[in-house]
Amino acid sequence: MNGSTMHLPIAELHLHLEGTLEPEFILEAAARNGVELPWTSLADLRSRYDFTDLQSFLDLLYTNLEVLQTSRDFEQMTRDYLRRASAGGVRHAEVSFDAQAHLLRGIPLEVVLTGIHAALDAGESEFGITSKLIVSFWRDRPASEAVEILQGLIDSDARIDGIGLDSAEVGYPPALFVELYDLARSHGLHVVAHAGEEGPAQNVADSLDLLKVERIDHGNNCLDDERLVARMVAERVPMTVCPLSNVRLRTIDTLARHPLPVMLEKGLFISINSDDPAYFGGYADANVAAVTEQFALDDATLELLARNSVDASFLDAAGKARLHGEIDDWVRSR
Ligand code: ADE
Ligand code: ZN
Repeated sequence: MNGSTMHLPIAELHLHLEGTLEPEFILEAAARNGVELPWTSLADLRSRYDFTDLQSFLDLLYTNLEVLQTSRDFEQMTRDYLRRASAGGVRHAEVSFDAQAHLLRGIPLEVVLTGIHAALDAGESEFGITSKLIVSFWRDRPASEAVEILQGLIDSDARIDGIGLDSAEVGYPPALFVELYDLARSHGLHVVAHAGEEGPAQNVADSLDLLKVERIDHGNNCLDDERLVARMVAERVPMTVCPLSNVRLRTIDTLARHPLPVMLEKGLFISINSDDPAYFGGYADANVAAVTEQFALDDATLELLARNSVDASFLDAAGKARLHGEIDDWVRSR
């Protein structure tokens, strides 16, 4: 492959599987499963994607995901994501799903996990993508509920690699979830959390200090606290940045005002991710392409972002070395 056709090989570390449901899939699955949605046509559904903030997006996301009923639905969702992601250069994906989104409407997590694992297990041979699975908990639900769900997953030996924390951030600080994260870490699970997306820099600091997370999802608002930034640089705390998400959820006005260049200049340990690609205008490659064009990123910067994504992943040393080798190939192809 030459430079014009080879995608930058990356690890995608911030991806909500429910956020990969494309409008066509949503309407098809609704019809197949007899789920009534407030919208019946593609045009009607597509007209709802103009978000004013995080909550306005979450309202649509949570309504649409109700079409997921069977293991087959979860498998198809995951396989569709892997296909799209691999076509855009993703070589390893650490994907998440929202436990309460399914449990609270009566879908057992066994159904969810059976479908997702079927696709992830086939992902390496079908699409050349390795993967890890993160269970995310809704921070606007009681922490005790999350603890109970996680304990159930642990007791049933569920194949999960880590936990995360997502949904509405403001008003639901990390301090509420200390027990959940203690439980996860005591069972050897990896730990990440959304922080500093709509919430304050303090949520980033508290996620590190109280939850002892290994990565921060988003983290943009850490930039409001110079001492915290210095600490994150010194401790090499990974941040999974999602540029198109930030624009569509209006945490920033326009891509031109995205703090990515500042993050790079300060030496923050950032990678580029898609968050909810079906809702925000593109998969990981579209996010990389958008910031590359917007900020005229050079090859050395793209290489850095790709290597960061690998180093911030939960792959073992051999898995990381393999992906760094692919990035070496990309560099040689330029
Ligand atoms: N759930 C899905 N995407 C999310 C995001 N960007 N922030 C919080 N919760 C989410
Ligand atoms: Zn997210």
